[in-house]
Amino acid sequence: MRLLVRLLGGMSLAVIVVTAAFSYLEVQEERTRLEQDLQRRAVLAADAVREAAEPLVARSARTGYERVLSRFGRRDRGVAIYDEFASVIAATPDVKAHLGPLSPLVTEAIRDNVTVRRFARVGGRTVWTHIVPLERDDRIIGAAATFLDADYLDTREWDLWRRTAVRLGVLILLLTAITWLLVRWTVTRPIARMAEWTKRLKFGEPVAPPPDADASLFGPLAGEVTGLARSLARARVAAEEEARLRLLGEQIWTEERLKQFVHMRFGTHPIFVVSNREPLSHVFEGKRIAELRPASGLVSALEPIMTACGGVWVAHGSGDADRAAGDRVGLPPSDPTYTLRRVWLDAEEEAGYYYGFSNEGLWPLCHIVHERPQFRAGDWEHYRAVNQRFADVLLEEMEKAEAPIVLIQDYHFALLPRMIKQARPDARVALFWHIPWPNVEAFGICPWPEEILLGMLGADLVGFHTQIHCNNFLETVERMIEGRVEWDDFTAVRGQHTTHVLPFPISIAVEEDLDDRVPHRDALLAELGTTADFLGVGVERLDYTKGLPERLRAIRRFFERWPEYRGRVVFVQIASPSRSRIERYQRLQREVRETIRKINEELGDRDWRPIVYRERHHDHREIAAYYRSADFCMVTALHDGMNLVAKEFIAARDRDSGVLILSRFTGAARELREALLVNPYDIEDTAGAIKRAVEMSREEQRERMARMRSQVREHNVYRWAALLLAELGRMPRSASAIRD
Ligand code: F6P
Repeated sequence: MRLLVRLLGGMSLAVIVVTAAFSYLEVQEERTRLEQDLQRRAVLAADAVREAAEPLVARSARTGYERVLSRFGRRDRGVAIYDEFASVIAATPDVKAHLGPLSPLVTEAIRDNVTVRRFARVGGRTVWTHIVPLERDDRIIGAAATFLDADYLDTREWDLWRRTAVRLGVLILLLTAITWLLVRWTVTRPIARMAEWTKRLKFGEPVAPPPDADASLFGPLAGEVTGLARSLARARVAAEEEARLRLLGEQIWTEERLKQFVHMRFGTHPIFVVSNREPLSHVFEGKRIAELRPASGLVSALEPIMTACGGVWVAHGSGDADRAAGDRVGLPPSDPTYTLRRVWLDAEEEAGYYYGFSNEGLWPLCHIVHERPQFRAGDWEHYRAVNQRFADVLLEEMEKAEAPIVLIQDYHFALLPRMIKQARPDARVALFWHIPWPNVEAFGICPWPEEILLGMLGADLVGFHTQIHCNNFLETVERMIEGRVEWDDFTAVRGQHTTHVLPFPISIAVEEDLDDRVPHRDALLAELGTTADFLGVGVERLDYTKGLPERLRAIRRFFERWPEYRGRVVFVQIASPSRSRIERYQRLQREVRETIRKINEELGDRDWRPIVYRERHHDHREIAAYYRSADFCMVTALHDGMNLVAKEFIAARDRDSGVLILSRFTGAARELREALLVNPYDIEDTAGAIKRAVEMSREEQRERMARMRSQVREHNVYRWAALLLAELGRMPRSASAIRD
């Protein structure tokens, strides 16, 4: 209410000042106009009187004046005729009795031979006096005066002011009414709704935020309140989940538990994550900047940890609108808890470090998929330089942090641990290698093995998904560089520095409350323009390690061997384009498209296509709809460090049914034993698994899925992070830097 009063007070004052100023000018203008009109009339009348009276006065006539007076005198115009001594010869009756005080004016006109004009008071009224001298033969013989009533000037002025006041009153009334309505609609009501919403949230009701109030007015406030509400809701869900698990006596790792653990273990020391792929890219959609969550298992795994623990995530700014969005961004956007620090690379650096050495060299080197690695000295130089660039940015970020915790991700940064440890011996550095590590013979073809291994051994802890990759790595170290490998405790020792090499199978964050807004199966099938008794799904980046051509061959084989399923089974393949500048990836894309086209052409008919192919980036919710609607999911990677799609499929199911067909060459196959494990190179084996999947009884599906669900729930990404951080926390803080 006080706001309204102040607002209206201010506005009314402004209206009064402006209206009064303009009205004053208007009144002055009108008055000048009226005065000019009065004077013009006075001139005309005085001249006429002068002409009529001059001959009479000149010859000192005794009569004839009455005629002049009656001719020119009127109710609003008095006339007087004077002789040369300023004595009244004749005057109209209305002024006659009041002429005394005007004598000095008449004397002035006669004496100075000038016309005298001014306002004067005559008989209690304001009059305009106009006195002209009378002449004969260049001699002043008297004067003629006219007195025009000027009282109406004041009356007209007051009328104008009165009208202004009425106008002002109406304006203020109108303004008050409109402002009151506007304030009520756009301010008071939304605020009241927000207050009500916050109150209900406080009591734990899961209410949706009120519909957006005027964003330009309430944007920041609404954003803050929404963020606060989300934090509250998250904290509440976490606390409820904790309480539930405590009651059940379960020891499942949750976001909240991880947060407390990190706080207890490392105090307020921030965590620094480094990865090539950023957790969120900004991209231009026309002129608008949109946010894009990349298709990356690494991002799915680390995002919840950073959200829980806070800190700084250093990554390559690869979105085309990233620079416009800034090199430091608070994430998640709705409720920031950590900072993304972007590192900029030019096209040449990206080509050498990312496309070249990382993805044409190390990627095929580490995956046993019979793809020949390409090693170019120029790429290697870029790889080194970019590792140094990330080291510089990271060191700058952790300048003020004491004993920082550094979690380096993946094969893009083999050299980074050593660079960091050399500059900051107090830092505790872990390197997690998200892809497999090959055996020593395979690794031996890399032209720079020593530098890579020494770079990695700069870390206090090197993690892989499986023990077998740890063993391969330690064996490579043992055979290729100087130093000692302790097989009892899985360490590599060089000089004063020890590196622990341990398995940490990565996972995902399992949501207990599944998003019920994702489209249901019927809606999804309708959108795909198909019907199906059985729906299969595959979700991956378009990468030759994922075994897509093999999977497609297996699907074709399935329909050939069991034609009764034609028209009844539909397989949806979601493929997110990846590393498309590399020729091998382009070739794969062509091969996949062509194979699908042929299968659909040869096996499909007018009403049914065996394979629906969706080649574009899909967001989390879109993918969740496929996972949830499918009867089976195929993960047939030829070689994979872990493969989080397998775990995501299990976590997304809202009922204990559905079948996972999983390549035995993935890290996930070691944990998800209830999946139908296949050798993706064996087409008959995989085709048979599809048949088993569609024919599996509900009961068997439920049993298998229930076991896999509890495996994924218990071995979630919070547990992965906790184990890795606990291990890192156990490492002694080195006092001296690693020497060359
Ligand atoms: O899982 C291995 C990995 O390289 C991750 O590090 C990465 O998130 C994912 O594959 C996607 O690759 P890219 O970041 O090259 O698109």
